[in-house]
Formats: sequence, C-alpha cells, structure tokens
Amino acid sequence: MAKTAPVAGWAHDFDVLDPGYVEDPFVIWDELRRECPIAHTDRRGSTWLPTRYVDVTAMAHDVEHFSSLEVAVIPFEGEEPEEPVLPYGLPPISADPPLHSWTRRLLLPWFSHQRVDGYEAMTRQLCSSLIDGFIAEGRADAAADYAQQIPVRVIAHVLGVPNSLADTFTGWVRDVLEFADDHDRRLRGMEGLITYFIDEIARRREHPGDDLLSVLLNSQVDGAPVEESIALGIGALVLIAGVDTTWSAIGSSLWHLATHPADRRRLVADPAVMPFAIEELLRAYSPVTMARVVTKDVEFAGCPMKAGDKILMNFPAANRDPDVFEDPDKVVLDRAVNRHVAFGSGIHRCAGSNLARMELRVAVEEWLARIPEFHVEAGREVTWAGGQVRGPRSLPVAFS
Ligand code: HEM
Repeated sequence: MAKTAPVAGWAHDFDVLDPGYVEDPFVIWDELRRECPIAHTDRRGSTWLPTRYVDVTAMAHDVEHFSSLEVAVIPFEGEEPEEPVLPYGLPPISADPPLHSWTRRLLLPWFSHQRVDGYEAMTRQLCSSLIDGFIAEGRADAAADYAQQIPVRVIAHVLGVPNSLADTFTGWVRDVLEFADDHDRRLRGMEGLITYFIDEIARRREHPGDDLLSVLLNSQVDGAPVEESIALGIGALVLIAGVDTTWSAIGSSLWHLATHPADRRRLVADPAVMPFAIEELLRAYSPVTMARVVTKDVEFAGCPMKAGDKILMNFPAANRDPDVFEDPDKVVLDRAVNRHVAFGSGIHRCAGSNLARMELRVAVEEWLARIPEFHVEAGREVTWAGGQVRGPRSLPVAFS
C-alpha cells in the first residue's frame, strides 16, 4: 500500500490506511467514541467516521441524506470514462431506490436458506480437501492456504464459472478492494472483472444455463429485459462482495481461536455453542466498512456535513460500542443478546449473509474437527489487510 503522512490526531485527521489502524483499530475507536464519536478527515476528500452504534445505524437508515452512489472507502482518483461500461455501478450495493429495490429482489433468491443449504456439502468437501493438502506438514498459513481458498470457489460455483479461475478472481478482487489506493492495480482488477463478465454474458446468451448470470439475462422487470450493464454489475458485485469479506471473517475467526486456547477448547468440547460463536466472531471481528455520500448539507449529531462529503459506515466500530454490547472488547462465545451489524443495517443489509454464515461455520467446524489444537507459529508474522475489508492475509499456524 502507498505510504501516507502520519496521523496528526484521530479526531480530525484519521486515516483508515494508517498501519497502526489496520493492525489495531479497536483502541482508536474506543478513544474516539469517548472524545469525538464522529471523527473527520480531509485526506482523500472531506470524510466522516462515526464510531457509535446509534449513529452508524441511523445513517444506514437515512437514505435521503446518505446515498450509496459512492460506496468505495478509498475514492478512485483516476479519470472516469465518458461512457462508462457500468453506468449504474454495481447494483444493488451502489444504488439508491428505486434501482436498488428491484436489483436486490433479483439477487435475494440466490442466497435464500434453501439455496445455501444446497451449497453446504460442496463447501464441506472443499474445506476438507484443503486440509488434506497441508495437515501432514504440521503447519499451514491458515489465511492463505485455507480461508482465502474457500469463498471464491463457492461463489464460482454459484456463478457457474470454472474453479480453475479461482486465483485469477481472487487477484482481481484484491486489486479492487485491498489495493484500492494503488491506482493501477485497482484499474487492472476492475478491467479484469469487467472484461471477464462481458465475455461470460456473450457466452450465456448463446448457451444459457441455470446459473445466476443466465437467469439474470433472461429476467424481465416491468415487462422489459434486464439491461446488460445491470446484469454485468450484479455479477461483478457478487464476486467482489462474496470473496474478501468471507475470507476475512474465516481468517479472523481462526486467528482468534489460535490465540485464545480456552475458547478453542470450549468450541471443540461443546459444538452446541457454535451458532452463538459464529455471531460473536462476526461481531468482534466485523470485516466490512462501506461508504456513503452526503446528498445535501445536513447537521448530523452536531457535525456540519456538506453535500459531497463521504461517510465511512463503520459497522465494525458500532459492534464494539459499550452502550449496546456488554464488555464489547471481550469475545463471549455464547453471548446471548447480540444485535450486531456486521452485515450492515437498513435496505442494503448483506444479501449474502446466509451464505457467509454457512461458509464461516463450515470452515471453522471442519478445521476444528481435524486440527483441534493449533497456535500462531513462534517468530512468524501475522499480517492484516484494512480499508474496506479487514482480515488477516498471512496467518502462519503450527499444530501437531
Ligand atoms: C462475512 C462475510 C460478509 C460480510 C461481513 C458482509 C457484509 C456486508 C455489509 C456490511 C453490507 C452492507 C453494505 C452497505 O450498507 O453499503 C453487505 C452488502 C452486500 N453483501 Fe455482504 N458480506 C459478507 C458476505 C457476502 C457474501 C458471501 C455475498 C454473496 C455473494 C454478499 C453479498 C452482498 C450483497 C449483494 C450486498 C448488497 C446488498 C444491497 O445493497 O442491498 N456478501 N455485505
């Protein structure tokens, strides 16, 4: 990532790409919540960072003032083409109503409980075969060799594209999300994705199947076929939204279990805790921050926001708010009351949450079944990615 100037003060000059923030944002959010609950910066344009649950959720519900037309946490700094290939961006995530409503409706059935149940056996088989690949060595990179490999293959299955492209997809998605401050990489990732989906759409027109893209292309809304650029945007979104996010959640959960032996042993001994533990790990290590753009000047919680300002929807900080969660910095595996917003809140609430939860649960279950005892390898570094999606990118663990 490009180096940025040191932070002069978190309340008025925050930087989500600051290495200290990426490594441990929790202490910074605690300090801000106490002293300046909505921080501001002029880095990369005028941007606000709410840290309280009440503010984040209120903003998520106020689509009149806080639009989703710009959801990238790191703004794109290149020139926009005169005739963009994706004039509507990646709906529904980058759309306001009414476009948001019908594009979301097209997508939701693909991630219903029933559909997701149908993906569980292949996910379990995939996790198990990944573990087969390294278990005999007694060590692995739980982020790169395991967590990273799972969601991209499940999504490829949903989209009806070959598994052999998994690494290419992962590369593009990382270029777009993780290396968003590197102009050339971001452009390369987006171009790769778009070109790929344009070719796939042409192929599906000739040989339609029963996959998501084919069905989108043959759908009608209000008596008219879905525009190709919208089908393209939805397809690209499913890949972008479903890969880094879930990989990060799996990686953070394994990091927690590697570093907290009592929690690890409890989960192994009492699998009934698993459903609560999955929610708690999602709360404590929420990977996703999204952005909004202010539509008209507004004073929000005493902050003078101007049209065009960005808001970083800090769902991860909301999930550590002591006004809502008792002992928020502690992972309580069987936390009973847990209204976390790891999947967002309001009309844009994650459309893939059933799939994400299933992948996370199955990945942790399969790992613990085969590798119940593991720890971070002494002397090896755990590295984290931050910005839009936070999670470990390298997690060297050893086991016997
Ligand atoms: C642990 C993994 C995941 C997390 C934490 C997560 C988180 C989120 C969040 C916070 C939002 C709200 C965005 C906003 O308010 O602007 C969102 C939206 C969305 N997510 Fe996820 N997500 C995950 C996995 C997935 C998966 C696996 C898919 C499916 C392939 C997916 C598809 C979507 C879509 C389509 C939206 C847009 C919904 C809309 O705008 O109506 N996500 N996600």
